[in-house]
Amino acid sequence: MKRIVVVAAMLALSAGAVVADQEQVKKTQGMMKGNGKNAGALVAMLKGEKPYDQATVDAALAQFEDTAKQLPTLFPESMKGVKLDGDYAPSPKIWEDKAGFEQHIASFAKTVSEAKGKVKDVDTLKAELGVIGKQCGGCHETYRLKKG
Ligand code: HEC
Repeated sequence: MKRIVVVAAMLALSAGAVVADQEQVKKTQGMMKGNGKNAGALVAMLKGEKPYDQATVDAALAQFEDTAKQLPTLFPESMKGVKLDGDYAPSPKIWEDKAGFEQHIASFAKTVSEAKGKVKDVDTLKAELGVIGKQCGGCHETYRLKKG
């Protein structure tokens, strides 16, 4: 009897952990999807598909900055190996090379904060988005996997 209770408690615990991971995954993916959407809106302005809009630029940069702040906690150890429903998965390198990953985050954060206040028109947007985009891509290249 005692044993059954213990097993049941353990099952409940591990179920709880899975739920927590799924929530973390959703949060992390939601954040990255938001980044993708914002980057897309900025690119549309560069291409002239949309008129330049300062409010959209400021909102996008604020969201990138928020991502940079949250990135250190977006990939807890518990997320290792958790299946994501998107096209991408975090690479195990995030946990194997934590120092390198954190360095990427720091350099992304620095780039975004430097870009803030500099973007005033299409030309400055082009320049700054180029620099920021390299940061996104640089991290993805090493720490993001495309699912087959
Ligand atoms: C420090 C690392 C890092 C930086 C910086 C970073 N990303 Fe990501 N990104 C990841 C990882 C890891 C994943 C895979 C896990 C996931 O999908 O959430 C990812 C996934 C994504 C996805 C796919 C989301 C999905 O599942 O559909 C998009 C879109 C994205 N990032 C956009 C961006 C943009 C735009 C920037 C820059 C403004 C950026 N990211 C900066 C690490 C980073």
